[in-house]
Formats: sequence, structure tokens, C-alpha cells
Amino acid sequence: MICKSIFYSISTLFIFLGALSCSPNKLLKPIELRLSEGFENPMGFYNSKPTFSWKLPVSETVKSQSAYQIVVASSEELLPNQPDIWDSKKQESSQSTFVNYQGPELQSRQKVYWQVKYWNQDNEPSEWSEINHFELGLLKNSDWKAHWVGLDTAKDSIKGVRNFLMHKPQYLRKEFELNNQVESARLYITAKGVFDVHLNGQDVSDDVLSPGWTPYSHRIETLTYNVTDLIESEQNAIAIELASGWHSGRISRGKALYENFASPKILCQLEVTFKDGTKSVIVSDASWKGTTNGPIRLAGLYDGEVYDANLEMPKWKTNAFDDSSWKSVETENIVDSVKLEPKRHETVKTTAVLEDAEIVSATESSVVFDMKQNMVGVPKVQVPMKKGDTLSIRFSEMLLSDGTFYTKNYRSAKSTDYYIAAQDGIIEYMPKFTFHGFQFVEISGFDASASPNSNWIKGLVQHSDFEKNGTFTSSHDKLNQLQSNITWGLRDNLLDVPTDCPQRDERLGWTGDAQVISPTAMFNYETHAFWTAWLQSMRETQTEHNNGLVPFIIPDVLQNKSASSGWGDACVIIPWDIYNITGDKTVLEANFEMAKKWVGYYQSKAKDYIPNIHSFGDWLQPYPDKNGKRGNRGDTPRLFVNTAYFAHSAHLVSKIAAVLGKTEDEKKYKDLYKNIASAFENKFFDENGKFKNKKQTQTSYLLAIYFDLLKPETKEKAQKHLLEEIKKADNHLGTGFLGTPILPKVLDDMGEIDLMYKILFKETYPSWFYSINQGATTMWERWNSYSRAKGYNPQSMNSLNHYAYGAVGQWMYERIAGLAALEPGYKKLRIAPKPNTNFLTEASASVHTPYGEASSSWKIENGIFYLETIIPPNTTAEVIIPYGKIDNLSVNGSPFEESANLKIENSDTELVKIKANSGTYKFQLNF
Ligand code: BGC
Repeated sequence: MICKSIFYSISTLFIFLGALSCSPNKLLKPIELRLSEGFENPMGFYNSKPTFSWKLPVSETVKSQSAYQIVVASSEELLPNQPDIWDSKKQESSQSTFVNYQGPELQSRQKVYWQVKYWNQDNEPSEWSEINHFELGLLKNSDWKAHWVGLDTAKDSIKGVRNFLMHKPQYLRKEFELNNQVESARLYITAKGVFDVHLNGQDVSDDVLSPGWTPYSHRIETLTYNVTDLIESEQNAIAIELASGWHSGRISRGKALYENFASPKILCQLEVTFKDGTKSVIVSDASWKGTTNGPIRLAGLYDGEVYDANLEMPKWKTNAFDDSSWKSVETENIVDSVKLEPKRHETVKTTAVLEDAEIVSATESSVVFDMKQNMVGVPKVQVPMKKGDTLSIRFSEMLLSDGTFYTKNYRSAKSTDYYIAAQDGIIEYMPKFTFHGFQFVEISGFDASASPNSNWIKGLVQHSDFEKNGTFTSSHDKLNQLQSNITWGLRDNLLDVPTDCPQRDERLGWTGDAQVISPTAMFNYETHAFWTAWLQSMRETQTEHNNGLVPFIIPDVLQNKSASSGWGDACVIIPWDIYNITGDKTVLEANFEMAKKWVGYYQSKAKDYIPNIHSFGDWLQPYPDKNGKRGNRGDTPRLFVNTAYFAHSAHLVSKIAAVLGKTEDEKKYKDLYKNIASAFENKFFDENGKFKNKKQTQTSYLLAIYFDLLKPETKEKAQKHLLEEIKKADNHLGTGFLGTPILPKVLDDMGEIDLMYKILFKETYPSWFYSINQGATTMWERWNSYSRAKGYNPQSMNSLNHYAYGAVGQWMYERIAGLAALEPGYKKLRIAPKPNTNFLTEASASVHTPYGEASSSWKIENGIFYLETIIPPNTTAEVIIPYGKIDNLSVNGSPFEESANLKIENSDTELVKIKANSGTYKFQLNF
């Protein structure tokens, strides 16, 4: 076979695969090799039993994979022919994602190299891939020789907001000498608190608020850094800044959870290998010194940071510093009950800088800046100051209509930073151990003789450092703004854990919010590892409750021993969604027991299949019954929501069991689901499919229909009642957190897509565009959080940055643009856009699937429907052209004809259904 150059295009994108890149008789090599949840050549990797994934190249000769071979070795030189760790041998399989490693269990610190090749549909072999590698972190507590060290800051703590005690931030350091030539060096480090580490005066990384937030009494994540280039062969100094963060600071509204106000501590182990093969290990121990007399005086995640430049300690990060006046640290042993495990998802980083601030008002003593985007992170201020003055930096999400700076919706979170100047001149400051959610910034205390300048402030956007995964765009500006609000809402609330909001005194891992948004998050960002990491925290938290309870928030700082339907179900729904979007079965294996236990929790509270547990209900449903007692919880009754979710979780557990080949469980949970469903129908619906309740709600019908809880004949009647409810609301949604995400899915299944378009494009309250008309740049907690006319909704619980209603984003990809996974992980795609020309003339989406880039892009122009789609290698697709008449269809410039790659499955006057193999297609249909 001859190597071919192929030409491959989408819209304006042209990729040329050069003929020179492959040698004779071999197919192009596999690309984008990844480990487990998407890691590329990771350092300090967490998983000793990883899975391997790769993608096939886009090429005329590569449609699918018929076999693969993976080789794993301890050095590059041994690959591909002498793999001393594992050789999968040629496996006849089309699987190119999440292939289990089956060699001997990998060990802490081990560095491993791997390569893969595939055979195509004609059994022709490819070139071997590039060699990829990974290095494990410290996997076991016994790998650590270091001690937890730090100062006892509980002793001289300071009373902060609501009398919460605050620890003073610490500066810790250690000098050491190495009299040998360094070959390589690894720094293993973590903290009870949050830290920033420096070696010989240099930043070890640009990570923010490490190690992040886990249930600290079970597990603390550790970081691994390659510091070979920072180590000197002689004198060295390691220097660490340490603050309370989530571990020992104020977090949650009620009591905070932190080992009896224990002082923050650091755990640090520097392992140096010399050129002569010998090693040296420098650990945190009693010889370290510390002080609380450094410039960061106070730091709290909710309340902000106080920085006094007069207390800066030049050179403290280097070995040219006299620390004789510093105190010796206290030490604490590592205990077995708290697992130390390498961090299993991306650290938080500054991922963007907003540089385009605008001054909206200024007086002699204060200036207010508009960042033009509600964002999360910290400001970078460069402001003229006078020695001894204090700059105060306050934050707000939106101003009142008269320009008043509004902070009430931050509730008790002070969210204010202070900087005390040590000299006259321009200061530069970025807080380090806090974060804020804001669009507006007010600063006061600057040099009053200077005229304010919009470049005084920049916004450093911070979140877990995942990559973008998808794009959605359309011909409609407000729909594009909605997509922007959704993606900002995600970035703003995926900061190490998924949070409800980023600004007020919560910022907690609310499970209900997370379960509704996780699919949309995965469409837009590569958050596979992010979610699976949080699920581990969820499993660890569930073990505290032997009855299977999954609490409201993870990590569980509320500790109120209660669970809510729709919230705890995150432990079943999120693994199932991850599996469907990625195809990764390991997430089902890891979480199956948790899911079963959660269903067991419902069972233990149920009488005649109706569980009597707490529920937040259809949280923040608009127009709640004023005479009802439920307020924020909406009007869909608690027992109704409980029973619906009990059934749904049992049903999903049965489906998960089927995927895992656990046939007994599959049957057991299916029977349970059927029994719950029939009890549900008897109790809550009459023979006319009407919800037996004075107040009818859209969500009651949506849950019953979407969770498949009604007999077919009842379901049909219930669908009519749903349509009536929507009509009564003049085609407005009437749904809260639980109903909103499934509204489009239910209407879609009912063939009511045009109605969904009407609801989505409504401009008046309650609707998505209403908030956009009021100036929203993120998703809001309430459908009416703010209005231009009246300003803030006066409810104290009112955030302008809550992602739940952004869950419509999934449907925008799947149906407006038309790109969905039909089989787990996009092994089979569905390209089925549903245009509605009353609102749109074009829409497109692209997604980085586990098999490569997929896209669906349509437009309608002069009575012609155009659809361009990319179907990645090793997948197939069902392409549905939404208008009929095969005779009027052309593909790639020629009249449509069936071929090996395109087969008609169905064609009538309404639509044309085509089975397509991997490739790039441009369809065109006159209608
Ligand atoms: C949070 C929510 C959460 C809810 C539960 C609120 O305070 O911000 O998003 O799901 O409580 O009721």
C-alpha cells in the first residue's frame, strides 16, 4: 500500500497530512496518547493500574481499528521490541479508549514508557506511536519519611468574622547543602492548609491554592514537582508560605470542620538523585524554622487577605537569609487513617487575565472598575500609593441601578483585600490565599494626587486547569451570550471542587447543583478527571454514614447528617453521565457500591416505596405558591421528588449493573425500580394522567415522564397535562434546579422541539434570555436575581454565579447544533440537528471526543440546508437530515449515492437517516 496525502477540511480548517510522515507499508501512527481520565505524560501520577487511550489519525485508509498492541517498558531504549514491563500482544479489538493496563502493579516513583500501534479495518498495521511516559507519585503513606511541620498558630490566633478564629499565615524555611552533581530531583509536597513553595528563590510552580480540597480526615492529595533545574549542587533553600485555606479556615455558614482548629502544617519531601547514582532526601522535620511575622498578615477564602509590605522579608526564599530569630517548628507524625495520595485531577491555576477594565465611577478616595465579566480569581493591582497608607479592595457582582457598590449578597463573606504600602510609588499586588467572585472592583486608599487609570486593575481568572473540550456557536447573539454565560459559570465554579457559587459564604460542593451540570461541563471542558476525583471524595464521605447517606455537600463541612433527594443522587447520576460521555467503565466500577448503598438509604427510609427523607425539591422554581410553606423549594411535593429520584437511582443502578455484567444486580434493581414506579403512579397520578395535587407543576410531569415512571397510557395523558401547564405559563418555563435540565430532553422526546425553542428564546421572566437582557455575564442562582429596573432581588440568598440553569447547554450541543453520543464515549454518534428558522439560520458545535474531533455545523441559506460534519476515526454515526427527499440531497458536491461509507437507513418526506462511517461530509439539501 502506498502512503497517501489526504486533504481534510471543515469550514476554513485545512489539515494536510504529509506523505513524508509515514514510511512505506505502514499506516500513520496513533496520536494523542492518554492515561486514565485523560492525562498526558503525567508526573506524580496517582494510579498504579491505569488505562490507556489513543486516537487513530484522520486518514482515508483508516476508518476503524481491528486490533491494537500496547508495549510498556522501564526505558525508552527497550521500546517497542523489548517491553520489560508489559506487552498486551496483538489484541483483536476495536477498543482504543480506556484499555486496562494488565502488567505487574506499578510502584511509587516508577517511571514508565509506553507505545501503541493499531491495525485498521483491513488488518493493515500502523507505525508505532511516539513514546509516551508517566511517573508515579508517592502512592503509600509509608513512602513518606517527612513529618507534618508548622508553627502553633492556634495559640495567637485572631478573631475574625462571626468570631471565627483565624490562623496567622506562616513562612517556613529550611536550608540544606548538597555536595554532589544533581541528576534529578523531585519535590513531593502537601499541606493541611494551602501553600506556595519556592526553591532557591524561584517559584516551584504556578499552582494556586494547592493541594485543594478533599475530605481531609480521610485523604489529603499530594503534589509532585520536577525540580531538577531549581536545585543547586551546593547551598539550597526551600521556602514555603502556608495559610489556612479550606482546611483550617472559615468555610461554610455553620460550624467549620477542622480538627479542633488545628494549626496548618506542611509535609515536604525532596528526593535528589546524584549523577553518581547516590541519593539524598530532605524532609520537613523539627529542624525547619518558621515565622508569622511576614507580609501576609491574614488570609481567608471568604474574607480576603491582609498584606503589609512593611513586613516583607527580602531574600527569605534564598540561602542568603538569617533566620536565627525564627521559631523552630512543631512536628506531627503521619497517621495511617489519613491517606496521602497523589492529586488525581488538575491543580488550580490562573488561566486567563482580563485586561480590559473600565472605570465606572471615581471620587477622590475611591474608584470603581468594571471587569465587564463576572469572574472568579484575584485582582492584580498596580496602583500609586503613599507609604503607610492602606489600600482596600472590595468586590461586587453587580452595582445597584444608582451605581451603589453592592456586597450584601456575599452575606458574611467580607471578600476584601488590604495592602499596606511600605513606600511611595506604584505598588503591585495579587492576593495569594483567597479568591473572589466579582465583576466590579472598588479600590480606596491610593495616592489621592494620582488620577485613576483603567490599567490599575487586571483580573486573574482562576479555576481547575482543565482544557476546553467543545465549542458551540450560532447565528443568534443572545444564544451565543447564553453559551458564554454557561462556560463562564463553569469556569467560575469548578475551582478544585464543583461549587454552588464562588462569592458568598458558601462556595461548597453542593451535590444537586453538580449532578445537573456535569454533562454540560463535560461537553465544554475536559472535566473527566475533575469529576472522578470529586466522586472519590464522595465515596470517602459516604463511608462515615453506615446507612449509605450521601450528604448535601462534598466535602461535608456542614455535617448535619441529612440527605436530600435530587442531591445525594449525584452519586449515581454523575458516574452514569461520565460513562456515557467518555465510555470509561472504570468510573462505574469505582462507584457502583456507593450507588447501591445510596439506593439502600432510600430503602431504609421508605414505606410502601415512598421514602420519607429531606428534599430541597425543585429548588428555586419561579412563582412559588405564596401560601405554601416551601418557599425556595418550589411546589413539587417532597415525597413526590423523593419517590421519583428513588426510582430513577434504582433504575440507573440496574443499568450500571448491566454494563458491568452483574446480572443479578441488574435484575434486582430493575424489579425495585418497577415496584417504585408503580407505587409512584398509584400515589401521585390519577387515571387521567393528572398529578393529584392542588398545585400543578411542570416539574412533576417532567420527572414522571423523564424517569419513565408511568404506564405508557398514563404517560401519554401526562404529556398532554405538561403541555397545558406550559401553555398556561405562556410558553415560559416554570422549573427550578431539578426540572430545568430535563425540560428540553422531555419536550424533545415528545417531538415538541419547536415548543422548546419558544421557551428557550423567551425574553421575559422566567427565561434564560431574561437574565441576559438584564446584563448577565454568568448564570444566575434565581431566574430573577437582578433586574435593570429594580436592581438586586432582595433575598439574602442570591448569587449571580450559580451554574445549575446552564444545564440547557447539553441540549444546545445535542439538538440545536446536533452533536450527541449515541453509544458511550461517542463510539457511535448521532448527528441530528433540529433547526428552527424562526430563531436561527445556523448553529455549530464541535467536541473533542475520545476518538478525535467531531463536529456538526448547519446553516440554511436561500432554501438550502447545509450540514458539515466530522465523524472521527473508529466511530460510526447516524446522520439525520431534518428535511426529507433523498433526491434533493447531495454530499461533498455530488448527488447522494450510497457507498461503503454512507448507507441510507430511512428516508421519507420528513427526514433522511444515514449510517455513516468516519469521515468529513458536506451535505446539501434543497427543500
Ligand atoms: C446553595 C444551592 C444548594 C442549595 C440547597 C444553597 O444555599 O447555594 O445551590 O443546592 O442551597 O438547597
